[in-house]
Amino acid sequence: MKINTKKILAIIILFTLGIGIGMTIFEKPQLSQATSGNDLVEINSVNPDTNVVTKTAIEKSLYKASKRLKIGTAIKSKNLESESYKAVLNQNFNLVVPEYEMKWYQIQPEINKYNFSVMDKIVEYAKLNDKEIYGHTLLWYRSIPSWVEPYLNSLPEAQRGQALKTILKDFITTIVNRYKDVVKSWDVVNEVLEDFSRAKTPPSIYRTDNIFDKYIGSKDEYNIPEYIKLGFQYAREADSKAKLFYNDYQVEYYNSVEASYGGSIKSENMYNMVSGLIKMGVPIDGVGIQSHVTNSEKLDKQAFTKNNIQNYPLYKTMDAYNKLGLEVKITEMDVAVYQENSTTVNPEKLLEQANTYQNYLLVCILFDNCTSFTVWQFSDNFVWYGKNFPGKKEDYHPNIFDRKYNPKPAYFALLKTLSEN
Ligand code: G3I
Repeated sequence: MKINTKKILAIIILFTLGIGIGMTIFEKPQLSQATSGNDLVEINSVNPDTNVVTKTAIEKSLYKASKRLKIGTAIKSKNLESESYKAVLNQNFNLVVPEYEMKWYQIQPEINKYNFSVMDKIVEYAKLNDKEIYGHTLLWYRSIPSWVEPYLNSLPEAQRGQALKTILKDFITTIVNRYKDVVKSWDVVNEVLEDFSRAKTPPSIYRTDNIFDKYIGSKDEYNIPEYIKLGFQYAREADSKAKLFYNDYQVEYYNSVEASYGGSIKSENMYNMVSGLIKMGVPIDGVGIQSHVTNSEKLDKQAFTKNNIQNYPLYKTMDAYNKLGLEVKITEMDVAVYQENSTTVNPEKLLEQANTYQNYLLVCILFDNCTSFTVWQFSDNFVWYGKNFPGKKEDYHPNIFDRKYNPKPAYFALLKTLSEN
């Protein structure tokens, strides 16, 4: 085999940089067509005890490398018009989440008008390509259609609470009934907990800046607002079999201090809320931990193994929900690597990004109650970061493929972790 000096140099660089990662990725993975046309990639693992390097040639397919977990990605219906996009999607994922097409404001643009045409395109793609659909999301303060508040304001104040319950129940019943044969799990309630990312003294446990809190926010003996319980109740009445989840971000720090923002307060609040819902017999089956790691300065310097990950924040959080008897999903993972005005990214930051992705995935693999691992889009062409993030969308490189659909170190780290555990 011709000696490739470039490759040897790359290995030396990676070895010096990748201390503790315990793996070597050939910069230009050797591909062979041993399988049905899909590429093989050669990933070498270094045994941390013996330092023996073992070569493993595996197919470049995340879901095929997974022994148990569903591997998902958020998609937009528009993405399905791109053949390059669909090639990566088909090869790596067996679960899709509509990035926004299932939300209330998209599905019911007017009080007497439902529009399923765009969502039906995603359903058609999923059925044709044998992909599961995860339902996202039924009740979210940012998904309320623009006609709702004017409609409520047209009624006497005393009637607005019941009116909101009626239209919310109608929406949830209509969409869950329509898709119950293809959607087996739902993000029923999304992001009701206050975000302490920049607050010093915690304000209320729950968000108060929305009409759900205003009109159906009365609290019970567990201090849980009424609308949260109604969301789960309406979804259960519409589908007796679907798995029903609560979904939020910055909630993987239960019993931890090293949160990327705001400490562990929000994580404790989520744990206490779902414990109260269980005690009241509210039909909740699990929680979605979104896993948007948006603080570029807090990425993992180390890739853990199953023998030394027990103190990782997500590990302790996953264990707590496991003990509650709840299912957990990683629902929206991306890992911000901020590099201003640059198309290339510092290789050290890419390795930290790879460590962070693989550590979250490893925790999900190690707990049987964790059932899927989903990224929030897979290419850096599609970044959701908005106006409250400094710089431009192009300055962030949060996903596992670059803008030309080349896999990044994070992709190979996920592939190795799936194939080895
Ligand atoms: O595609 C249309 C375009 O045709 C139209 O011209 C334009 C202006 O109206 O809108 C475009 O659709 C936008 C869509 O993103 C695609 O870019 C929607 O208006 C916009 O609301 C939508 O934003 C989504 C946002 O949730 C709100 O629904 C983002 O894509 C999506 O990434 C983001 O995802 C959320 C999760 O649901 C919950 N967790 C946090 C996550 C990030 O904020």
